[in-house]
Amino acid sequence: MQNMEHKDYKRVIDDRWSFRNANTKEYTHCYHSYPAMMIPQIARALITEYRPSGRLKLIFDPYVGSGTTLVEACIAGIKSIGTDLNPLARLLSRVKCTTYNEREIIDELSEIQSRLLFFQESMVRDCSFEHISNYSFWYSKDSLIKLSYLSQLIDEYSSSFNKDFFKVALSEVVREASYTRNGEFKRFRMKEEAISSFHPDVFGLFERKVQRNICGLQLFNKVTGLCNDTHVYDFNTTEAIPSDIICDGDVDMVVTSPPYGDSRTTVSYGQFSRWANEWFRFENAATLDNLLMGGKKTKTKNFDTISISEQLNEIGQRDEKRYLEVVSFLNDYSTSIANIAKSVRKGGVVCYVVGDRRVKNVQIPLDFFTAEMFEKHGFKHNITIVREIPNKRMPSKSSPTNIAGNHVETMSNEFIVILNKVE
Ligand SMILES: C[S@@+](CC[C@H](N)C(=O)[O-])C[C@H]1O[C@@H](n2cnc3c(N)ncnc32)[C@H](O)[C@@H]1O
Repeated sequence: MQNMEHKDYKRVIDDRWSFRNANTKEYTHCYHSYPAMMIPQIARALITEYRPSGRLKLIFDPYVGSGTTLVEACIAGIKSIGTDLNPLARLLSRVKCTTYNEREIIDELSEIQSRLLFFQESMVRDCSFEHISNYSFWYSKDSLIKLSYLSQLIDEYSSSFNKDFFKVALSEVVREASYTRNGEFKRFRMKEEAISSFHPDVFGLFERKVQRNICGLQLFNKVTGLCNDTHVYDFNTTEAIPSDIICDGDVDMVVTSPPYGDSRTTVSYGQFSRWANEWFRFENAATLDNLLMGGKKTKTKNFDTISISEQLNEIGQRDEKRYLEVVSFLNDYSTSIANIAKSVRKGGVVCYVVGDRRVKNVQIPLDFFTAEMFEKHGFKHNITIVREIPNKRMPSKSSPTNIAGNHVETMSNEFIVILNKVE
């Protein structure tokens, strides 16, 4: 362990938290990729090592994403609530925390597989793809027809309770069978040469993903038993948290990884999820990124900060537009912190895994800002653990201009900010 100086919010580099050789795809964590996923080992270690003293009955993840925290809460036998504006995130979180009956799933997969053997185009009932924007630009006709057939078989051969399990596997195939470039979260189309030799095995991909997910489910079912108290909602953390879902002081522990900037200039959750959100006709598929934190541009700063004021001034001097983008995000972020702070009981703990980003060559220490905002709402900073990001789980570079290949350095360390609500 080694200290990194800061006058108010102590950072401690702790190599243990890098989890270099850990299997991050254990249990249902293997189901589906998602941008900027939290490593399950972090949620697990936080729940074990930083749990609040006294009651630990409810864990809250206000940016649930693919549900990493909820799965770990489930495994620890603790009730959890998650929220996310992205319908795909909610689907993943729910499915990853559901103890489906393995036997039923295996039997239903066999039924589907036996139908796939005799596939003919004429069997596909729904060949209208109008709900998928620009569908012939993004898919071959062969892929669209086969994806539609998979949807049809899921509808016919899985029970209503099990359908979502299969939809999660299909969701990944919908993305992988498209002409989107590998390794990008944004929607960049492959080059023409690559498209001419791209013939995805749509059925094979689906079968392999279902089989992989069944293995994850079997392990998950072993460790969770049937005790499962997980709830996923779609409220916006920048608006008040609905009191019929969480009352002030209900939450014992928050374990989360929020976005570290708006979707356009950092990670585009909406673009990544658009394939599945459109395929399943989920709401706001095309506009999601504008609804997420920082999606609406504001012209004024609604918060006071000491911890990052120099950095904000510096960015403002270099580029007014970029300054307003950062401020728009921080306006939403600080409002959401005020809401989340209220939901936590006295003595409760919040753990935020955040990244620093660089804008106009200025590093913005979001960990200091997070600690400062929580301290305005009755919390005391405990520690900030600094971990290196060993795997490329998210692009270390991002393209604010939306031009492929036009990259700037954004982050390589993660900061786990831990605060306690003052008794
Ligand atoms: C870094 S990801 C969470 C990843 C998650 N920890 C995991 O392991 O998959 C941040 C999430 O915040 C969600 N989000 C952004 N703004 C939001 C808001 N205002 N209210 C609720 N969720 C929001 C995004 O849709 C995204 O899924």
